[in-house]
Amino acid sequence: MTVESVKPATAEAPELREPPLAGGRVPLLGHGWKLARDPLAFLARLRDHGDVVRLRLGPKTVYAVTAPDLTGALALSPDYIISGPLWESLESLLGKEGVATANGPLHRRQRRTIQPAFRLDAIPGYGPIMEEEAHALVERWTRGEVLDVTAEAFRVAVRISARCLMRGSYMDTRSERITSALATLFAGMYQRMVVPLGPLYRVPIPANREFNRALADLHRLVDEIVADRRASGQKPDDLLTALLEAKDENGDPIGEQEIHDQVVAILTPGSETAGSVVMSLLHVLTEHPDQVDKIREEVKNVVGDRPVAFDDVRKLRHTANVVVETMRLYPAVWILTRRAVTDTELGGYRIPAGADIVYSPYAVQRDPRSYERHTEFDPDRWLPGRSPELPKYAMTPFGVGNRKCPSDHFSMAELTLITAVVANAFRFEPAPGSDNRTRIGITLRPRRLLLRAVPG
Ligand code: HEM
Repeated sequence: MTVESVKPATAEAPELREPPLAGGRVPLLGHGWKLARDPLAFLARLRDHGDVVRLRLGPKTVYAVTAPDLTGALALSPDYIISGPLWESLESLLGKEGVATANGPLHRRQRRTIQPAFRLDAIPGYGPIMEEEAHALVERWTRGEVLDVTAEAFRVAVRISARCLMRGSYMDTRSERITSALATLFAGMYQRMVVPLGPLYRVPIPANREFNRALADLHRLVDEIVADRRASGQKPDDLLTALLEAKDENGDPIGEQEIHDQVVAILTPGSETAGSVVMSLLHVLTEHPDQVDKIREEVKNVVGDRPVAFDDVRKLRHTANVVVETMRLYPAVWILTRRAVTDTELGGYRIPAGADIVYSPYAVQRDPRSYERHTEFDPDRWLPGRSPELPKYAMTPFGVGNRKCPSDHFSMAELTLITAVVANAFRFEPAPGSDNRTRIGITLRPRRLLLRAVPG
């Protein structure tokens, strides 16, 4: 299936079909009950009902795309935009003028502004900071200590994004405040999305007060960072400089609100996703001690006895495959949505204008039709020539098309480096109270990992 196959029907085109209705509805709630109860299992089973299926969520019809080629066609087609409940609730919290929620010409212009900071040739410039943060992570840990992996993973992810993309010593203390604000926000945001109680979230109970404080602090921090950078008169080659120098369609500097929303829109999803993958990686290293051995062996061969450096990353092929396989089984972004802007079609199915569409990288990346031993953790499946028949778009943890994550190279470098440094320094055992069941929030990650860092 290619982009061409999603062109609108013409007079000669075959009759479009209505997507089948998925089974398992209950009165009134439709499929909503199953979706809310066990979303991963529900989404993974939908492919048995068809490549595109209709779901009833209360009175609303939502379309789910289940075949990998069609998820690619959807992401690449101009007939669909970023819109729908997921994005609207993000906008209301994070601002309306950021790249993650903009569409059309504004989105194109914003991508052009931020893209240079994420280009492959820009990544080595971040090497020293990534290296420093990866080593600082394990230097913080003492042998035998029980680690609260949620805090550690988000801390390193936030610090790397914030320090690389908004350079400056002022970030050292601010990244701690950003970490703490984002931790509170991520927990509360998912709740606000799935249980949209509107005004009830304004009732001044402690949980709402804490959420609102964190949100206000995040916005205040971003204002401080922008003001400090301006006052410093410095223009390092980074994302913040690109935003401060950006021009709109008329050649005028972009507005203050847009600069602010852009910083928030890049920091927030970036930290949540990368932090979730770091957690999943630590879970994988705990469950598969043989992988710790293999990573150590690779590090020994490539690096020898000196500390792992950023420049080693591109040679750490097995370590990178551990990262990729972790993202296959535990994709941080487990569900994505789009909205049709016109009457259109997908795979020969009719999709009406205004329809909300969902698809799940989790379901696609665990589909037994695409992957042998689909639930087995096997980084070697990514060795060259090992999975030549993998269907197109069967592995898209960073998305596809014009909304593809700009940070794919940045994140792969960061995650491979962290994995090599961490596996080289410690082994991990679950500590009492650890709960590695999957937590489904805005991202997917282990619920509460408490790990003992053991030597050897
Ligand atoms: C978009 C995944 C890290 C910034 C996306 C999308 C995915 C994704 C799947 C596409 C959403 C869609 O198609 O609707 C990930 C994963 C990451 C990661 C798995 C880490 C392992 C980061 C980081 C940053 C970042 C570190 C920045 C610091 C963004 C932005 C967008 C985006 C700004 C919106 C792009 C647009 O709409 O044009 N990410 N991401 N991501 N990501 Fe990432």
